[in-house]
Amino acid sequence: MARFMTSLIQHLLPQSALTGDRLFHLAHWPGSREGAVKGGLGSRMKGGAGSESDEGGGRFQRARQLDESYHRSVLLEEVTHCLEPRPGKLFLDGTLGGGGHSEQLLKAGAKVIGLDQDPAALSFARARLSQYEENFGAIQGNFRDFGDILATIGIKGLDGMLFDLGVSGTQFEDGERGFSFSKEGPLDMRMNPAGDLTAEMLVNECEAEELARIFYQYGEERASRRIARAIVEARDKDPITTTVQLAELVARVLPKKGKIHPATRVFQALRIAVNDELRSLEAVLSEVPRWLRPGGRLVVISFHSLEDRIVKTFMKRTSSAIVDRPEWPEPRPNPDYAFKLVLQKGLAPSPEEVASNPRARSARLRVVERVS
Ligand SMILES: C[S@@+](CC[C@H](N)C(=O)[O-])C[C@H]1O[C@@H](n2cnc3c(N)ncnc32)[C@H](O)[C@@H]1O
Repeated sequence: MARFMTSLIQHLLPQSALTGDRLFHLAHWPGSREGAVKGGLGSRMKGGAGSESDEGGGRFQRARQLDESYHRSVLLEEVTHCLEPRPGKLFLDGTLGGGGHSEQLLKAGAKVIGLDQDPAALSFARARLSQYEENFGAIQGNFRDFGDILATIGIKGLDGMLFDLGVSGTQFEDGERGFSFSKEGPLDMRMNPAGDLTAEMLVNECEAEELARIFYQYGEERASRRIARAIVEARDKDPITTTVQLAELVARVLPKKGKIHPATRVFQALRIAVNDELRSLEAVLSEVPRWLRPGGRLVVISFHSLEDRIVKTFMKRTSSAIVDRPEWPEPRPNPDYAFKLVLQKGLAPSPEEVASNPRARSARLRVVERVS
């Protein structure tokens, strides 16, 4: 693994530096915290995971706390159980984040390629997983491009794939990233900070109709038109540039009912649009069958109904050998047949997990296994 990743880096770095598409490997990452990605957690957090200050008796416990402060991995045991990691297996973690799920796979002796579009996540996961360097490679990229990335590094098949969708705790909590309506910050919302589109651009430049479509389709917001009109009126006076400005504007249109902040769905919708999340998910799923070896499993954790619907529909469509339609004289073999369902239904986290990590409450895990 280390050898092919090294040759990959050597081949691609000069070109990728031009395109801004960077590839990372542990062996090539600067050792010091000063050398880590600018703005990455390793450089922002005192005594970040793997830092020189991690010495003495409490070292491992402190490292664990720091790891969890980046992101509490959701459904950790369930994911590990479903993927059945062991030496000789190769996994793709398409949403590396803080590396919590990858760590479990590496601990069991498997090899892991981790992808994330956020260089700060790669920086953190790299430090956290540095002891597994021989078995682990971390690459910056959108998971929708994983096929090209794997082909470039000479990989032909995988024993399992994981997609733990959405943003990490750190991305969400960092006001500067603009994901949270309760943290003052710029209306950014890009997971990849080099992406072309920001939430501020959408909010200030889209026609009212387009904004309403985004809020309705990606946020299932019933007051989408009203909110879009209020945004257009407000921005005619002054551009809307911060999270709190937008959250307050939405709250004026939709007074708060119950526990959920009225801007929740608008923020979800903008984030999905900025990162093209649903199309990336559809694109990645369609590539999975050709990469998973027989017996290999696809595990997806989704966090809202729009994502889960896409995953569920895909898994259903590809897991029946025979399909039937009313207009056909008889059932036919399914050309998309590729999987068997490992879990008949989506699995939710236990009440204990939700109590200790409320962010897990909307998670749904779905698993299929490649048939030969
Ligand atoms: C929920 S976190 C993953 C947490 C991780 N499983 C852990 O245990 O720490 C999701 C991560 O996926 C990344 N991500 C989301 N969509 C992506 C995409 N289309 N391509 C690459 N990375 C993506 C985000 O930047 C974020 O770091």
